[in-house]
Parts: sequence; C-alpha cells; structure tokens
Amino acid sequence: MALPKTIRAQVGIVGAGPAGLLLAHLLHLEGVESVVIEAQSRKHVEERVRAGVLEQGTVDLLNAAGVGERMRREGLVHYGIELCFDRRGHRIDLHSLTGGRAITVYAQHEVVKDLFQARMSYGGPILFEVESVRIEGFDGDAPRIRFRSYGDECEIPCDYIAGCDGFHGVCRPSIPSGILRFYEKTYPFGWLGILAEAKPASDELIYANHEDGFALLSMRTPRISRLYLQCRPDEDLSEWPDPRIWEELQRRFETVDGFRLNEGPVFQKGVTAMRSFVAEPMQCGRLFLAGDAAHIVPPTGAKGLNLAVADVRMLAHALACRYRTGTEQMLNRYSEICLRRVWRAQHFSWWMTSMLHRFEGCDGFDHRRQLAELNQVTSLRAAAVVLAENYTGLPFDLPGERL
Ligand code: FAD
Ligand code: PHB
Repeated sequence: MALPKTIRAQVGIVGAGPAGLLLAHLLHLEGVESVVIEAQSRKHVEERVRAGVLEQGTVDLLNAAGVGERMRREGLVHYGIELCFDRRGHRIDLHSLTGGRAITVYAQHEVVKDLFQARMSYGGPILFEVESVRIEGFDGDAPRIRFRSYGDECEIPCDYIAGCDGFHGVCRPSIPSGILRFYEKTYPFGWLGILAEAKPASDELIYANHEDGFALLSMRTPRISRLYLQCRPDEDLSEWPDPRIWEELQRRFETVDGFRLNEGPVFQKGVTAMRSFVAEPMQCGRLFLAGDAAHIVPPTGAKGLNLAVADVRMLAHALACRYRTGTEQMLNRYSEICLRRVWRAQHFSWWMTSMLHRFEGCDGFDHRRQLAELNQVTSLRAAAVVLAENYTGLPFDLPGERL
C-alpha cells in the first residue's frame, strides 16, 4: 500500500511505547487527532519485556480510558509486598497503610497490546518501522516530523510534537544545546532479569537485601516467575548458565524458615543497567518530552512506566485545553507540574535502591546502616506509610497542583 507522503495531524507523536500510545488514545478521547510513528515493528514492541507493576492511579486511568478490560481480568492485584533482610521476611501491608490502595502486576507489553488494540479499533494511524526520523520547526509555529517509511520520504506537519521515543530516541537530542539541563546518576551495578516457567514461590513481590547483592521476586502470571538479581552493569550473560542463576537466587532469598524458590525452564534473560536521569525542562517550544525521553529511574521503585503515564495524562489534558480554549496556559505549565512528580519518584527510586543494594566498597558499617533502615521501615508505622504511599503511587494531582 502506497503511503501518503504528507500526513497532517494536530499532534505528531514519536514513539509507540506506553507513553506514545496512551497519549494518542487520551487525545482521541478528547477529540484531538494524532499520528504515531515507531522505529520498531509492532511485533517487537508487543514482545519487549519491561515493567510489571502498575500503580493504583495508572490502573484507574487505564480503566477510565476504556482500555482496562483485559487488565481487570488478567492482572494480579497485590495488597502488600515483602522486604527480606537478615534472612527474614517482613510484610508491608500496602492496603491498610494507604487507606485501601493496591498495585496491579500486569506486564507493560500487555498494556501496549491493549493500547494497540484500542488504536486499531478506531483506525488511528500508527506507522511502524520508520527510519531517519528528524524533528524540525518546533521552536516556531510550524513543527514537522520527517522520516522514511518503506523507502518513501514522509512528513507530518503538525501543531505540536510529543517526544515519546524513550531514553535513546531522537527528540531530546534534537533540542539545541544550552536549553536543557541534565541531572544524572549511574549506579555501579545492573539487574540480571529472567522469566521462568515456575510457579511464583510467593503471592506477593519480595525485595531482598542480601550481603551478596539485591534480589527481587516478581511474577507475570500464576505460573510465570519474573526474577532479578543484582549484577555488574556490564555482566556477560554467557557467564550465567541457568543453574548458576538459580543457585545465586536461592542464596539471596534464603530465610531462617527455609524459603525456597520454585525453579523451572528459563525462557528470557537480560541485563539492565541502572541510572537516574532527568532533563529539564520537558518542553522546548512546541516539542514536549514525555516518559523515558525525559527521565529514567532505577527500577527498584517500579516507577518508570507509571511516571510515563502521569506525564501523558497531563500532556493530553493540556493539549485538550489548548484546542478547547485556544490558550497555551496549561501547556506552559506541563514541565513544571510533571517535574515535581518526577523528582518525588526520583527520590523514592534512589532511596529504595540505596536501601536494598550492595554498593562497591560497602563495608560492615554500610550494611548495618541498611539493616537499621529496613528495621525502621518494617516496624515503625510512619516509616512504612512513607514507603507504601510512594510505592502504590502518589495522587496525580499533588497538593497545590490541581488541574
Ligand atoms: P519506551 O517504552 O522506551 O518507548 C519508546 C518507544 O519509542 C519505543 O517503542 C522505541 O522503539 C521508540 N523509538 C525510539 N526512537 C525512535 C525514533 N527515532 N523514531 C520512532 N520511534 C522511536 N517501570 C515501572 O513503572 N514499573 C516496573 O515494574 C518497571 N520495571 C522495569 C524493569 C526493567 C527491567 C526495565 C528495563 C524497565 C522497567 N520499568 C518499570 C521502566 C519502564 O519500562 C519504562 O519507564 C517505560 O518503558 C517508559 O515508557 P516510554 O513509552 O516512555 O518509553
Ligand atoms: C517486574 O515485575 O518486572 C518488576 C517489579 C518490581 C520492580 C521492578 C520490576 O520494582
């Protein structure tokens, strides 16, 4: 099928990850049309293994937007998590500590599939496997996105561009130097993650602090475990045959009362580097950055996907206001409002990371300090409330930021 070379849109969206797809859907509900372009194939995006924990607010938003039907059926609602240290498990009762909130375990690629399905149902345009993407004119009033699609040169003239193209995308680097300020922290470790056909050994997530390094038990379904262990950031997977991974995981989750993981065939393995990153502001003229394009958090707080959702909720609202009222007042507050939440999530993710991981050169003092902090979080209600409120997700409208 020959593609039109020029596709006009009110909003041009670069990237069909959760941020780009949800933005397109929310805009559609507001009567604003958009075109989404994606560098990868649909299959690639639908199969990419990433996040698993949805905050209460994310779940509520997906439901309100009419894309939560399968999530309600297949998602696993969790009312607590466990922190394991000193070979003992301690439950954090998220539900009672937050006055009734919970998290839902539902894989990011399932959210993406549901959003693709919704987009297809009303014929919203998404172009996959585009190449040589360039964005231009966003500092004036005629932005456009140029790219190649199956050999054709194409362009999308639009009113606004949403840069939802992740950390390695083209939108953020297209902003002239001197406009953005970057804040960055890289951690001297990564996570080796596996998916295994094994019944999760716990109904709830377990975050384990062990002197050999952090480990996390999560799940995807009642028969599939998702497990992570702290490793070097440049860890060579060929040095990690399955028996070594299981042995290391079993050691890190070991408890005095004999906890054991269920083992099974490993069908996916990968290493993720850990970093904290923020680009400020999240706007340059008529270009708006959202999700990982603007910020990265280490996965320990399970905040990345949820932050992307909060960004595009705000962006969709601000764009809808612009088309309804003709003013850019909300759009001009987009960056400032999002960044407040971003920094709260940065702090929480850094705190969880620093409390649970083994740091290079970490001596007996540091480890005992971590244990003291974990003891506090699991025994002092006020400290547990701070963890639970942040983990289940801060309200979308933080105090003083009501839209
Ligand atoms: P992405 O998902 O990266 O999507 C960007 C899209 O843009 C991609 O599809 C990409 O192909 C496309 N793209 C890139 N360049 C171009 C271009 N030039 N042109 C067109 N398209 C382009 N978050 C949580 O909230 N909870 C968790 O439990 C959690 N766990 C995680 C575990 C791991 C191991 C990892 C790696 C991440 C985890 N995260 C978690 C983070 C979460 O996955 C990300 O924050 C989320 O994917 C951000 O979505 P996004 O749409 O902004 O970016
Ligand atoms: C996951 O299930 O992939 C997961 C869960 C919790 C995290 C990070 C990742 O903190």
